[in-house]
Amino acid sequence: MLPDIGVLRPWTDPTCVAIGRLPLHADATRPDTARLVLDGDWDFRLAETPDDVEATWVAAQPPADGWRTLAVPGNWTMQIAEDLPHYTNVQMPFPGPPPRLPERNPTGVYRRTVDVPADWDGRRLVLRLDGVETAHAVWLDGTFVGYGTDSRLPSEYDVTALLTPGRPAQLALAVVRYAAASYVEDQDNWWMAGPHRGIVLEALPTTALDDVVVVPDWDPETGLGRADIAATVRFAGEPQEGWTVRVVLGGVDGGPGHPGADDLDAPVPTSLRPYEYRGHTAHVVWEDLDVEPWSAERPELHEVRVELLDPQGDVVDVVTTRTGFRRTEVRGSDFLVNGQRVWVHGVNRHDIHPDRGSAVTREDIRDDLLQMRRHNITAVRTSHYPNDSAFYELCDELGFYVVCEADIESHAWNWSLCDDPDYRATWVDRGARMVSRLRNHPSIVQWSLGNESGYGANHDALAGWIRRVDPSRPLHYEDAIRTLGWLHGHHATDVVCPMYATIDAIAAYGAQVASGEADRPLVLCEYSHAMGNSNGSLADYWETIWSTPGLQGGFVWEWKDHGLRQTLPDGRTRLAYGGQFGDEPNDANFVADGLVSADLGPHPAMRELAWVHRPVAVEVAPGGDGLLVRNRQAFLGLDGLVGRWRLTVDGEPAGEGELAVEVAPLGEATTPYPRDVPEGASVLLDVEWTTREDAWWAPAGHLVAWDQVVLRGGAVPAPAADGGRVPTADEAGAPALHVWRAATDNDGFKVFHADEDDELQGGKALASWKRWGLLDDGFTLPHELSSEEAAGGVLHRLVVDVPQEYDDLPRVGMVLEVDPRFSQVSWFGRGPHECYPDRQSSAVLGRHEGPVDDLPYLMPQEYGLRTDTTWVELVDPATGDALRFTTRGEPFHFSATRHTSRQLWAARSADELEPHDRLVVCLDAAHRGLGTASCGPDVLDRYKVPTGRHEVAVLVQVVRPV
Ligand code: GAL
Repeated sequence: MLPDIGVLRPWTDPTCVAIGRLPLHADATRPDTARLVLDGDWDFRLAETPDDVEATWVAAQPPADGWRTLAVPGNWTMQIAEDLPHYTNVQMPFPGPPPRLPERNPTGVYRRTVDVPADWDGRRLVLRLDGVETAHAVWLDGTFVGYGTDSRLPSEYDVTALLTPGRPAQLALAVVRYAAASYVEDQDNWWMAGPHRGIVLEALPTTALDDVVVVPDWDPETGLGRADIAATVRFAGEPQEGWTVRVVLGGVDGGPGHPGADDLDAPVPTSLRPYEYRGHTAHVVWEDLDVEPWSAERPELHEVRVELLDPQGDVVDVVTTRTGFRRTEVRGSDFLVNGQRVWVHGVNRHDIHPDRGSAVTREDIRDDLLQMRRHNITAVRTSHYPNDSAFYELCDELGFYVVCEADIESHAWNWSLCDDPDYRATWVDRGARMVSRLRNHPSIVQWSLGNESGYGANHDALAGWIRRVDPSRPLHYEDAIRTLGWLHGHHATDVVCPMYATIDAIAAYGAQVASGEADRPLVLCEYSHAMGNSNGSLADYWETIWSTPGLQGGFVWEWKDHGLRQTLPDGRTRLAYGGQFGDEPNDANFVADGLVSADLGPHPAMRELAWVHRPVAVEVAPGGDGLLVRNRQAFLGLDGLVGRWRLTVDGEPAGEGELAVEVAPLGEATTPYPRDVPEGASVLLDVEWTTREDAWWAPAGHLVAWDQVVLRGGAVPAPAADGGRVPTADEAGAPALHVWRAATDNDGFKVFHADEDDELQGGKALASWKRWGLLDDGFTLPHELSSEEAAGGVLHRLVVDVPQEYDDLPRVGMVLEVDPRFSQVSWFGRGPHECYPDRQSSAVLGRHEGPVDDLPYLMPQEYGLRTDTTWVELVDPATGDALRFTTRGEPFHFSATRHTSRQLWAARSADELEPHDRLVVCLDAAHRGLGTASCGPDVLDRYKVPTGRHEVAVLVQVVRPV
């Protein structure tokens, strides 16, 4: 049994959030403070339950053997075979009700020696664990130090009395995997275990700065900044008169002192008289500072340096923190930064890495932010818990708007815990600790009370605390408006932040804003569920957002797949989802729903997201005699971008040049066409904007915005069919009617809730397709399919009459299995990336080329479509031959993959997928959109395959490439 706490069992008691833990203070840098970073190899051993931990494991002298080495920080679930990751979404991994815990409750003990430097004599020693999942307890030389919960925030303990400088000590950390607190950490995520963030021992002056809080502001009316600084001092003994706090404002980005901001001194109050006593906090304020404001577009940071001077005038302690002068507020139905209505181009981000699990490094975080910024993502909701300080430091510095969320999700017990007095302390403590720790970061523009925990008195208690302590930031809480309705819940949320709302619903809210009925801005806290081949109608969302009062954007769910790298018995590796570790119960591949793969490879939808988030947009001006250019940035003009235009007439280049136009932030301007519109069936003007200078996220020349303006017509005439020959039967295969696609996660799940009677599947397209027998051998529809030699090739013609009862088919077209030597593709149509009828706004008409696509998704499913194609050539790079398919009717959609639709559908994991011996070419007259029905609205009706007549006619030839 664990000594000292084994009898009390605090991990089973929701009212006990910590024992002996220090209050959290704002994170800041202590440039002169000595510290021992305790990251690295620790000794480790695992017990089946906390009761199975032997007291000797945490004693001054531990048993000599039975230990192995594990990395700290780290999840033990990613490092050992006996206790593995477990994935669940809403359900808990074990039955409740709260606070009941499972019988098997793995408990790990970590140990190491701490060599306390001899010159630390006379210092106050504080041990900090930056994040431990789930409950932890600490012993030094066998003496109990403290206990804590709240996996995603630091825990600090004063260990001065337990350490002797110059003498090594034995540090033991016991971690209990499941605790009463697990019921509020029930996020849609892997359950891990262990110290996933760093551990450090700091040596502080005995009288020292205990907390430094900086509240910046920037007044858009006057253009002047302000900063309010509160420095709290901790005295070693009785407070003495004569101590002073000095505050120095640095210039931009660490430069020398800011002009016009004098150093400010304030005496540290010392009174201990009852009634008068307010603690030992010195306040200073800079007013009317001539400073540039901080924003995500221009993240100007200033260093605030706070010194503590003793009565002799000597500096005994220094704390620095970076601030940005900015105002974030909700005014009426607008969310404003520095008085401007900013577009929220956001994603939801979890801490997740395929090899390190939740133990992400600063470099991992930076890699995420880099990939985001390259795709015009400039806002993050820290779903669903506070991140490591490194995340906020990077967002301050690199420029991101952050909705910082408390680590509170009681999803499985949604309607009880939020009103349960036993969990009241948990709620308030988690939210208050988050604010206390992270409030100095200018990137945080809203606080979130957590996720999916119902709405109850515990939320109101927390909201009240935050409103009192930090009135400078609006509050965000989705379940308040879900529970009470979008016009209500004002106490808990200043923004209407629904998840997965339909376009019609947000448009209706906009109408209520216009009529004065609704009084808050709407920012979708989650939308456009990126599971598998998804994110249909992103551009339709944004058409509505741009044009509707009160709507300001949202956060796509979610940033990254949570696939975890797993080695299979045959030595191959795969990115595993729930259940593939033997974890039961589980929610399968619902954990793989990111815009990027677990390895950070962007899924094709990232192009569409980058496009809807583009900082500048171009369209035909009203009246049609020029271009309308809109600047969607709130603080920058267009001078940081280079605009270029390119004209294409009937598919052929017809001129290009620079587009020089200046547009004020959030403004628009018209400019004449760069040249007279020439004759032609199809005249397309492409406008591209690239960065003028190198930036942290991309070198100069990076493409940030593009538009294709149709000046005349659209479809490009097919090229003449000359110079080709008739393909052999082996080269061209034989066409067949094709109406099935390997269902996407949005069409319906094949592993998770796979039963069509399941409430999550019923009503989905896949349920109808199964009912109609689409997958059965011999399924067919009334159609005519003919192949005849014509014009130097073979003309395939398909005419299908889709009967009324099949009113939502996956696709209607033909499939051919062709010679696999044709491994390169070039085409005229939309591209270059994968696109579908409801995800093609970013895909421009033009000539594109590339290799045959590989499956970009973790779960095998339909992929690789290109829409509105006039011709496609499959090229054999060895011989230079090309198999050309040219429309002899309307443009078609095509895909060329190494798997049949049936193979893709049959495989339950990418590692089960073998390449087919033929190249599979689909030529579709119609193809269903994608929607986001895996969690959210299905495909809009206008993107469904209509009943009635569909035709595809293609001429197939072997040619030399055009
Ligand atoms: C939301 C939830 C997220 C995630 C998403 C579906 O309800 O807040 O955590 O579960 O649905 O992937």
